[in-house]
Amino acid sequence: MHILVTGGCGFIGANFIQHMLHTYADTVIVNLDKLTYAGNRRNLAEVEASFLETRYFFVHGDICDQSLVTDLMHGFPFDAVVHFAAESHVDRSINDPFPFITTNVLGTQNLLEAARQAKISRFVHVSTDEVYGSLGPTGVFTEDTPLAPNSPYSASKASSDLLARAYFHTYAFPVMITRCSNNYGPYQFPEKLIPLTYLKATRNEPIPVYGDGLNVRDWIHVLDHCQGVAATLFKGQPGAVYNFGGDAERTNLEIVRTILRLTGKSEDLITFVTDRPGHDLRYAMAFERSTRDLGWTPKISFDEGMEQTLHWYQDHGTWLDEVQSGAYRQFMDTWYKTRGA
Ligand code: NAD
Ligand code: TYD
Repeated sequence: MHILVTGGCGFIGANFIQHMLHTYADTVIVNLDKLTYAGNRRNLAEVEASFLETRYFFVHGDICDQSLVTDLMHGFPFDAVVHFAAESHVDRSINDPFPFITTNVLGTQNLLEAARQAKISRFVHVSTDEVYGSLGPTGVFTEDTPLAPNSPYSASKASSDLLARAYFHTYAFPVMITRCSNNYGPYQFPEKLIPLTYLKATRNEPIPVYGDGLNVRDWIHVLDHCQGVAATLFKGQPGAVYNFGGDAERTNLEIVRTILRLTGKSEDLITFVTDRPGHDLRYAMAFERSTRDLGWTPKISFDEGMEQTLHWYQDHGTWLDEVQSGAYRQFMDTWYKTRGA
């Protein structure tokens, strides 16, 4: 199978490409990535060493570039597109929503249209549980929960989901939408809660916890998510939406305390800072449809996954240092200063 993957140099895309090339010997992947601050070719160094120009090809480019995307779709015999490329961090979307609208909405539209014109026979649009908005203390999101996004990030993802939906209904274009809860695992950029907490803990720096730390996320190991995306690619029904979750709801304080315990650091590092504006209280996923129709369940328990992940970060200190460019550090410092960290 020839697959165009977008955003393959980011956290989930890089894990997905590794998973596909190692698991399915007939897979050939072209990775289209703009290499934003979150994209790093080093995430695929092992893939490049084994498969570059044989089963893996890299194209440095923007999904918003109409002629590039059109040429690519027509120039290569793709069986499928798996679309990960996005601006993905809620805090950045609060700071400046425009790149989120450009990449997540216009970029997705550009890909859908080029793929439709090129008659691509399967398109997996990778989305998030955040499009459903926020839950109270009880309840779960199903695929039929109405979309009610609360941040510029989730609004841009919901917009792209609606475009995907419209392409199925209007043009019978075979697109499937996946919605997944919070991922953790190797190669996650250290702006998200788990790698950021690990990084700060190991440097004995204050760990910023927004508000009272009682917001709840459902955590899933990135490999479980990748297997869900692969199952959707092979078995998903065109037009369908599939939820993936980790069955691991934790408050943010529980996450931070777990990391402090596993790294042997003091809870004195916990620093409560001004809450995120519009902060969603709780996410939780029902994924019976994915189990029934795709044969998918999450396999990696939270405890096992967290231990493995922290070991990975311990063994990849150079990677952590390298991905923190000057511009990235400047953004993080300014952001946390405005919140009192
Ligand atoms: P990431 O920020 O780590 O990586 C995004 C990648 O997309 C980077 O390689 C970046 O260079 C690339 N990119 C950004 N703009 C681009 C553009 N205009 N053209 C081409 N490439 C571009 O993101 P991630 O955490 O790996 O998330 C991947 C996808 O999964 C996103 O669509 C996100 O919404 C979704 N998702 C993420 C999570 C999570 O917990 N991280 C959960 C559910 C869904
Ligand atoms: P994050 O990893 O940014 O993912 P998302 O916003 O997509 O869920 O944040 C996870 C949770 O952790 C969220 O409730 C916000 C909170 N958080 C903090 O308390 N401190 C931090 O420094 C960060 C980055 C997040």
